Parts: sequence; structure tokens; C-alpha cells
Amino acid sequence: MLSHSYDYGTTLETSQKVNWKLDDVIRGRSLDFSKRFLPEALAGVESITCLDAAEKRTLNQIRGFTYLYLFGLIEEYILPSVIEHAGTTVHGDDDEVRALLHFAEEEAKHIQLFKWFVAEFRRGFGVDCGAIGPAKEIAAAILNHSRLGVFLTTLHIEWLTQKHYVESVKDNAAEDLDPLFVSLLKHHWLEEAQHAKLDTLIVDKLASALEPHRIETGVDDYMDIGKLLDGGLAAQVELDLASLEQAIGRTLSADDRDEIRREQRKAYRTAFLVAGMKHPSFDRSLRELSARGHQRVAALAQALA
Ligand SMILES: [Fe+2]
Ligand SMILES: [Fe+2]
Repeated sequence: MLSHSYDYGTTLETSQKVNWKLDDVIRGRSLDFSKRFLPEALAGVESITCLDAAEKRTLNQIRGFTYLYLFGLIEEYILPSVIEHAGTTVHGDDDEVRALLHFAEEEAKHIQLFKWFVAEFRRGFGVDCGAIGPAKEIAAAILNHSRLGVFLTTLHIEWLTQKHYVESVKDNAAEDLDPLFVSLLKHHWLEEAQHAKLDTLIVDKLASALEPHRIETGVDDYMDIGKLLDGGLAAQVELDLASLEQAIGRTLSADDRDEIRREQRKAYRTAFLVAGMKHPSFDRSLRELSARGHQRVAALAQALA
């Protein structure tokens, strides 16, 4: 149903080659709070006129914190969905079940890495930054949709991780970001590259067993989950504003808050929603699944941009 050149055996082999341990990423280092964490293309703080350079760096670090926190949060729904799907393949293709179990194990490891980062950030930043949750409730809300809707969302997330790293971080020495934070992004990207392929195979398999109207339901569910995530991102912006005020030690005026809110809403939406919806590989898969669904998602991406 979907055009791609992926298979479980080759993907498993690659994932075993690039597989890493938490110690390979951290190497005994701590975060350097004199540096920015997130590339500007993702943080979107430089255009904010009401903050000085030091305050922009503080907001960048808050955004670095929420970036990895939100990935950890999202992966808490991905993990049970992949385990469940792997369970349906146990009496089938050996490479398929092994690749899927490996996928699940890597997501569990990523969750553990992001939790380590969240604790490390909270230890060094000096302000207890608020974050949306709890992860279990958000995961339950996402998983309360059709399997196709859930795995389309995962496909969107896996591809946007690729885009973020390749376009914003890789070979980008000019921004002089914290090396430990960049190491986290790089190691995550390395394994996510295989997840994007496996997710394409999963979506292909799920959709191949569905009638066209059930595929439309899957696209509807994917869009519903997107709206749910958009609500979460809007709530996160408000928490970030409170964290920022506390960290810079001054109360922002209503106009200043409006400016930051506007810029950050745009930055979050671009990074987490539009980047996935418009990723060429995701876009192609969606178009092949449903021309009508593809059009509806393109309209949603336009409205969010
Ligand atoms: Fe991950
Ligand atoms: Fe992943």
C-alpha cells in the first residue's frame, strides 16, 4: 500500500549497529548553563524584542528542558503501543518480532535518558519549571484512538525527529550549544532513524487490513490527537512564561507576555506539529493512504503554521 524500500531484517541489523548505552551519551558530563541548549530554529526566542540576550538564553534553556521532557512524555504512549503491536506478530516473521521488540526497548531507554536529563536540568537550573502531564493520563488519551491514528501520530513524530536533527543540529557548530544536550539529540536521532522505517512498515500493515472508510477514521484520529497535542503545547507555553518570570526575577508586562506567547506558540507548533505534517516522507505515506485525508491534513498544517 505504501511505497518504501524498508524491511524488518535490514532495519534490525542497522539498529543493532548504532545501538548505544546511557553512559555513551552522558560520559560523566553535566549540563553547561552558560550555553544555550536548543537550536534557534526550534527554540524561536531570538525574535522576541522584550527580552535581553541573557533572558533569551534562559528561555532557550527552558525550551531545551521542555523539548526533551515532551519527547519523554510522548514516548510513554509509543512504548505500550509498540509492545502491543509486537505481541500480534509473535507467531509470524522472526525479523519482524525482533525488530519491534528492539524498537520498544529503545523507546524505554529513551524515556529513561530523558528522565535523567529532566532531573539533571532541575538540579542545575535553580527554578522548578512546570511541565504538562501526568504522562500516564496523556498517554491514555492518545491511546484511546484507533491503532492507525495512533501509529500515524508516531510516524509523524519519528520523521520530525529526523528533520529537527538533520536541519537544525547536525553540522551546526555556529550556535555553540551545550555539548551534552547536543549529544542527547544526536543519540536519539541515531535510533529514531530506524523507528521511522519500522513505523512506516507498521502503518502499511495496519492500513492494508482496513476498508477505505476505516482509513479515513484513522486519519481523523491522527488529526484529533494532533489537536490534543496542540492544546498541551499551549498549556506548556503558559507554564514556560511562569518559569521564565521566576528565572529572570522580574514580572513581565501583559504586552510582553503576549509577545512571548505569540512567538512561542508559533515555535512549538512549527517544531512539534507542522514539521511532522509537512515532512516529505510522512506526506507521501499519507497521500498514498488517502488523497482526501492528505488534503485535510495539509489544510490543518496550513491553519497551524
Ligand atoms: Fe525515542
Ligand atoms: Fe522512536
